[in-house]
Amino acid sequence: TPGTVIAVDGPAAAGKGTLARRLAAALGLPYLDTGLLYRAVGRRVLDAGADPRDARQAEEAARSLSPADLERDDLRGPMADMAASAVAAIPAVRAALLDFQRGFGRERGAVLDGRDIGTVVFPDAAVKLFVTASVEERARRRFLELQGRGVAADPAQVEAEIRDRDAQDANRPVAPLRPADDAVVLDTTVLDAEAAFVAAIDLVKARL
Ligand code: C5P
Repeated sequence: TPGTVIAVDGPAAAGKGTLARRLAAALGLPYLDTGLLYRAVGRRVLDAGADPRDARQAEEAARSLSPADLERDDLRGPMADMAASAVAAIPAVRAALLDFQRGFGRERGAVLDGRDIGTVVFPDAAVKLFVTASVEERARRRFLELQGRGVAADPAQVEAEIRDRDAQDANRPVAPLRPADDAVVLDTTVLDAEAAFVAAIDLVKARL
């Protein structure tokens, strides 16, 4: 359906990105990874030698974000994760990124993944999925992903970082991580990527 917006929210390392990308491909919709926007803002603040909690610096970085910032290859990793989560707690940063996200989805429809797509960015989305999994399973997946990229990591530290980031995202006053009232919760703890996709596409088709 043209103009259809599908919101895919959930905590860190729940497999939202993989799932959202596959849904978009299957439905012929554009895909936007909104976490990348916050990651790019956090990265720019770090590059400037500033603290990602510095509201003035972070807002300036968000306002001057360019497409090239989203193509950088250093947007993933523990530093980038925490910097993204820190700038994401700043209301002026979220406000600066809102128009772009809405504009992206409004024209031709889209699948967007993030934390607040169903609650704030597109409260009228046709379908809202809240994708989650146990923290142990999410940590295991993130650890394997890091290993696959050749990044040395400690499993306990990966899990601690995920817990910290989820707590920070869920406890911030503005656009906290939580399922929209009308979201369907998809727990992928015991599902592999293929099974999660099959479950999600069934949920989406039943609602379109
Ligand atoms: O999804 P991803 O892990 O790449 O997001 C990085 C960080 O960006 C999250 O921990 C969260 O703080 C922030 N974020 C957000 N709202 C979104 C997407 C991401 O606050 N819609």
